[in-house]
Amino acid sequence: GGATFLGGAIGGAAATFGGTAAWGATRPSSSSSEAPDQAGRATVAFRGPRQPGVGTTPQAFATLLALDLVDGSDRESLVRLMRIWTDDAERLMAGRPGLADTEPELAAVPARLTVTVGYGPGVFAAADLPGRAPAWLRPLPSFGVDRLADAWSGGDLLLQVCADDPVTVSHAARVLVKQARTFARPRWLQRGFRNSPGTVAPGTTWRNPMGQVDGTGNIDPAAEPHLIWHPDGSAGWLAGGTSAVVRRIAMDLDRWDEVDRAGRENTIGRRLSDGSPLTGRHEHDTPDLEAKGPNGFGVIDAAAHIRRSRTQDPHERFLRRPYGYDDGPGDTGLVFVSYQADIDRQFLPVQRRLDELDLLNEWTTPIGSAIFAVPPGVGPGEYLGQALLE
Ligand code: HEM
Repeated sequence: GGATFLGGAIGGAAATFGGTAAWGATRPSSSSSEAPDQAGRATVAFRGPRQPGVGTTPQAFATLLALDLVDGSDRESLVRLMRIWTDDAERLMAGRPGLADTEPELAAVPARLTVTVGYGPGVFAAADLPGRAPAWLRPLPSFGVDRLADAWSGGDLLLQVCADDPVTVSHAARVLVKQARTFARPRWLQRGFRNSPGTVAPGTTWRNPMGQVDGTGNIDPAAEPHLIWHPDGSAGWLAGGTSAVVRRIAMDLDRWDEVDRAGRENTIGRRLSDGSPLTGRHEHDTPDLEAKGPNGFGVIDAAAHIRRSRTQDPHERFLRRPYGYDDGPGDTGLVFVSYQADIDRQFLPVQRRLDELDLLNEWTTPIGSAIFAVPPGVGPGEYLGQALLE
């Protein structure tokens, strides 16, 4: 743990987008010398080589919004929208009101706000740049486990708005959507949550709504940036960019309630108490997929989620940045978000394996799916997506 993974600095100073081994943890809890509004005052830098909100240690609250471009959109209108969003995102992330903010007081608590923008296939069509779309930018193939609803799928533009305070997220999302009104209309909106700052010990991996410790085997974005980002010097507009997969995955918690503890732990291959693998003692012990129990069967089940999702192929790893959702009884799950340099090479093989066999499939169902190219970060004097749209 330690201050380096805050992804934010106090008092409006620039902050890193990097993480450390403590990825997934919430910010350190308060000490007596800390200002009571410390979590509210923390900011993340908007400008830099990468967009914020990817390598940023996940904030407590997220709103993911997909928008569709209005008919008649073209490259010029996209540039205008990107200039507006650039300006507003920069202001809001610094704790300043948006340009035409009708509730400027609501902007005063940045709370590590990040705004991340992604482009669906429709952007490339509207901008008349079909040849510039990455090969992996197309709807995922349909999987046997999928029960996708249009209402939770697709979209021309993605706005991922995250902060450690839900008032901040709500305000920022409203400003950005309102300012986009003549260019794009909201298609779907998904709200998610993790632990609030100061509620769990530093370094604690969050628990998803099934009660599982979620994120232990994740990658550390600072240690393996190449898994997420197209290298800065690489050819094309996507240098310094990435891709986002957003899947809404419903959890059948009522049926999960009927499973005993041993069955639940067997489903993942990890213990509920502390997330340790069934073959180890501590959360971060490496799972031993070869270990056999007294009956000769694997200690970690052949269909356990971590056996099926874990890979020896370093190219098949990616960053998971999921949030829980709870929209009422019977409507709970994960806003599964992953970031990877290449959806086809990294995400798809894993998703295919899980589709073929994964004990978790008994209680989880993907009901929405969307993919986006995430343009690089915004340098001084630049606007979002400039390398593509100029
Ligand atoms: C690991 C839960 C969906 C990929 C895990 C773990 C849990 C979990 C509890 C073990 C702790 C950890 O390493 O994070 C869930 C739930 C899901 C879900 C509840 C759906 C509601 C997915 C999907 C993918 C995925 C859709 C990718 C297509 C992974 C990977 C790991 C993992 C790569 C780490 C494996 C390792 O290297 O040890 N998940 N997961 N999960 N999951 Fe999932």
